Amino acid sequence: MDLAKVNVWVDVFFSALYLVIIVALPIHFLVSIPKGRFRKKFIEHKWPEHDEAHPPAAPKVAHFTHLFFMFVLGFTGMYIRFPFFDGGRSAMRGVHYFAMIVVILVLIWRVWYAFFSKRRDWREFAITMKDVRSTPGVLLYYTFISDKKPHTAKYNVMQKMSYDLFLTMMLMQAFTGFSLLTQPILFGYSPRFVLLNWTIAPIVGGSVALAGAYMRILHFVLTWGFIIMTTIHVYLSATEDIPVTKNFFGFGGHSEEHGGASAGVPAVSAPAPAPAPALAESE
Ligand code: HEM
Ligand code: HEM
Repeated sequence: MDLAKVNVWVDVFFSALYLVIIVALPIHFLVSIPKGRFRKKFIEHKWPEHDEAHPPAAPKVAHFTHLFFMFVLGFTGMYIRFPFFDGGRSAMRGVHYFAMIVVILVLIWRVWYAFFSKRRDWREFAITMKDVRSTPGVLLYYTFISDKKPHTAKYNVMQKMSYDLFLTMMLMQAFTGFSLLTQPILFGYSPRFVLLNWTIAPIVGGSVALAGAYMRILHFVLTWGFIIMTTIHVYLSATEDIPVTKNFFGFGGHSEEHGGASAGVPAVSAPAPAPAPALAESE
């Protein structure tokens, strides 16, 4: 197979797909206006209710650090592939290497936290039969066909699937990323050789160099995967449940902000100051 052609195909396919997504998301937002969801959330402040406590600080700090360095990795990675200004190659590489170590450490810590800490929360990410059965309902809600969002757990099934996919993609990104390193830094062997010689190379016909070329394509495809998933993730966190997003980034007490939805209590009965007076007044 001509790998240069594959690379061009990947560029064309993912740029087109990304264009479709950044057109589709504003359309999705516009549809929420006639459907009444925009009014309910952004004007009446009736956000979804939650029966579980919000995450403690540590996972929020991990998420924030992780997201910052993911943007750094995306930017420096894109530069390594398409050097869009002169003279930055070794600096950008250095930053990519530094950021990759940070995200791997954060990831290891987050997985440890999920399974072994006192506040282990892996169950929040585990997909149960109840979740699976709720999938059609969640899809109907996101596509505006139904107005009821099935509530099964802290995260809905699509969230759980995306978060589990993020983890899987990170592991693959780390594997494919290390297999781009050809310097003999491991007892005279390169990370590429150690990772690929007994695994991918035999599958693709024996050559570590060829296996490495495939890993480079995969690292880039995964990069697009992260860009697409993160765009949708950010769109949903900016539209589905702003109090949760603010809380997740360390702003605002969620108990006050979630008052709106409770049994349809009218806003006037809440003596607490309205969290967003500008929006309330514009009604
Ligand atoms: C998770 C750990 C990661 C590791 C170990 C890793 C490692 C690497 C390495 C060694 C290179 C080659 C650099 C060079 O040529 O000197 C590279 C390139 C690249 N990385 Fe990463 N990286 C990681 C995560 C990421 C992430 C999260 C992204 C994007 C969101 C990313 C995007 C890229 C891109 C686009 C390239 C250029 C690939 C090409 O030339 O085709 N990397 N990475
Ligand atoms: C500007 C970018 C981002 C924003 C605004 C954002 C926002 C959020 C919010 C609000 C939540 C909490 C959802 C809830 O509790 O219902 C969340 C959770 C999560 N996000 Fe992001 N996110 C961003 C980037 C990323 C990136 C780049 C990744 C991974 C590559 C990621 C992975 C996750 C995961 C795995 C969770 C599950 C909760 C946890 O990790 O403790 N996010 N995000």
